[in-house]
Amino acid sequence: MKVIQYPHPTLRYKSKPIKMVDKDLKNIIAEMFDLMYEHRGIGLAANQVNLPLRLFVVNVAGERGVGDELVFINPVITNPKGTKEMDEGCLSLPGVFGPVIRPEKIRVQAYNLKGELVDWKVDDMLSRVIQHEFDHLNGVLFIDRMPEMAKLDLRDELDEFETDFESRRAVGEFGSDEQLIKSLSEIEQKYC
Ligand code: CO
Repeated sequence: MKVIQYPHPTLRYKSKPIKMVDKDLKNIIAEMFDLMYEHRGIGLAANQVNLPLRLFVVNVAGERGVGDELVFINPVITNPKGTKEMDEGCLSLPGVFGPVIRPEKIRVQAYNLKGELVDWKVDDMLSRVIQHEFDHLNGVLFIDRMPEMAKLDLRDELDEFETDFESRRAVGEFGSDEQLIKSLSEIEQKYC
């Protein structure tokens, strides 16, 4: 498992709800936490590890053994309140940061690893991370939500990611589009 980077097509995929959590999926979730800590992140969505599932992991402390390890399965966000601008980054766009305006507070409902429905009102960093990760499940990246002027400043950096991706795709690193679609649909058939 590894973190895929912009502009990998799975980052634009609208993921499907999960109907079943088995031992394999629990192992996948454990691996996602490993990867998140390894990359010094505080959240990681399934799309970012090339899995088309409505699932993400969060630990706002960003360090194993510190803070809470949260798993959000089939999350729903409602009751947005207030607005706040904050700089965001993303493990699929390493080194890229920019301002994003989002609701300050939200209500989130999701299943956790025990199969319990959690229903929380959250604010601050947790609200920010949940909204960012939730976007990933719909194929949305934080750069899509940046003001146009701020995004223009990132054009060169994004071009570099795009050029790099194309050259890696040209040597077959990601397989063919057909192979990608096949592997995504196999995972969907198993879990969705
Ligand atoms: Co991200």
